Amino acid sequence: MTDWNAHPAHFWMHGHRPAKTVEFAEQTGFWTVSGYSETHQILSDPVTYASDIGRFFPQGDTNDPLVKQLTEGNILQMDGAAHRDRRRVVSRAFTPKIVAAMEPRIAKLAGDLVDGLVGRDEFDFVSEVAYPLPISVIAELLGVPVSDRDLFVYWADKLLESKNIYHEAEPSQDVQAASMAALREFVPMVDYLNQHTAERRRQPREDLLTMLVQADMPDNEITHFGILLLFAGHVTTTLLLASTIMCLDRYPDVARQVREDRSLIPGLIEESLRFVSPVPAIFRATAVDTEIGGHAVPADQLLMLALGAVNRDPRQFADPEVFDITRDPNPHLAFGRGAHFCLGAPLARLEGRIAMNILFDRLGDLRIETPPVFHPSPEMCGPRHLPVKQVQRGD
Ligand code: HEM
Repeated sequence: MTDWNAHPAHFWMHGHRPAKTVEFAEQTGFWTVSGYSETHQILSDPVTYASDIGRFFPQGDTNDPLVKQLTEGNILQMDGAAHRDRRRVVSRAFTPKIVAAMEPRIAKLAGDLVDGLVGRDEFDFVSEVAYPLPISVIAELLGVPVSDRDLFVYWADKLLESKNIYHEAEPSQDVQAASMAALREFVPMVDYLNQHTAERRRQPREDLLTMLVQADMPDNEITHFGILLLFAGHVTTTLLLASTIMCLDRYPDVARQVREDRSLIPGLIEESLRFVSPVPAIFRATAVDTEIGGHAVPADQLLMLALGAVNRDPRQFADPEVFDITRDPNPHLAFGRGAHFCLGAPLARLEGRIAMNILFDRLGDLRIETPPVFHPSPEMCGPRHLPVKQVQRGD
């Protein structure tokens, strides 16, 4: 069992709770909401609390075609009818039938990865399983070559790096320049997806990109959706898988129980999502003057909803610091809620369940002996590398 050294921004992982559930910070200029009921209220009212938050995160010259291309047409930042229309189209790719049909393919991918680990005493769980599985699933879903997966990881890193500018109240010129440079390195991903989209227009295939082209979605929105899937859909699921292994190491009794009774796996995944929420914060903007948890909040304010802390709010979860896979219900907000609720949640859960079953079937216990290296960005929470030792049962 090892200490977790999560990013300091993830204060709840270090056993702290903010003094107030709704708080304005002069230094950052935004409100932090860490209470469950307040966050629930905000996510349930997309009219008062809008997702169109791009103006709070200006990056470079907004007239720059590059910046425009990277900021316009992102479903996560759409509101109202435009969002509903877009969501109606893209959700066709995530119907329960489509997700269920992916099960054998996910099992095959996971099985092949795990088989390569049988008999290996030590390995990095992230690079061997937690990262290749979700990225391969998304690449196959989208219809781009799985062999390009290292490129997606590189681009995802650059995108996160480009956001470093927001982690300081007054970023220096160097930080601003480095952030813009990272953004430019991310541009080939836009070109990559544009090329694949153009190809599908010429030659339709049986894949998600073709489906989006045939639904008459504009090219920039298809590109944005591809980026969202290749980025949000894989980094998050990678973190979920790795954090679950981290929790099993910290709570060996739970690991023993689940090994013996696999019907506990869905509860394990839900508790892992609550305990180490991969997306630790999301943002909204007040569209009108409002009140949150007894605080008057004017219009046009940026709100950071600290999902990681929200999911450990003692007013909602009994003994929130206890990792309890039998919590029922477990209404965590790790996938958000309401209009923008994560479209990939059923897929992420399925991948989690399949991977855990196969791991228990084919491998010994995975023990962590050195503190896991956490993702360096405060926007993500969970191990970036997870060296594990495989211990055969009975050893
Ligand atoms: C939205 C978390 C996996 C696709 C979201 C949101 C959260 C989230 C918190 C809401 C953002 C907001 O309200 O501002 C997660 C976590 C995942 C995961 C924790 C894994 C453990 C996936 C996967 C996919 C995906 C696998 C797709 C393959 C999406 C999409 C949206 C979204 C398309 C935008 C929905 C909209 O704006 O209407 N996700 N996600 N996610 N997620 Fe996920």
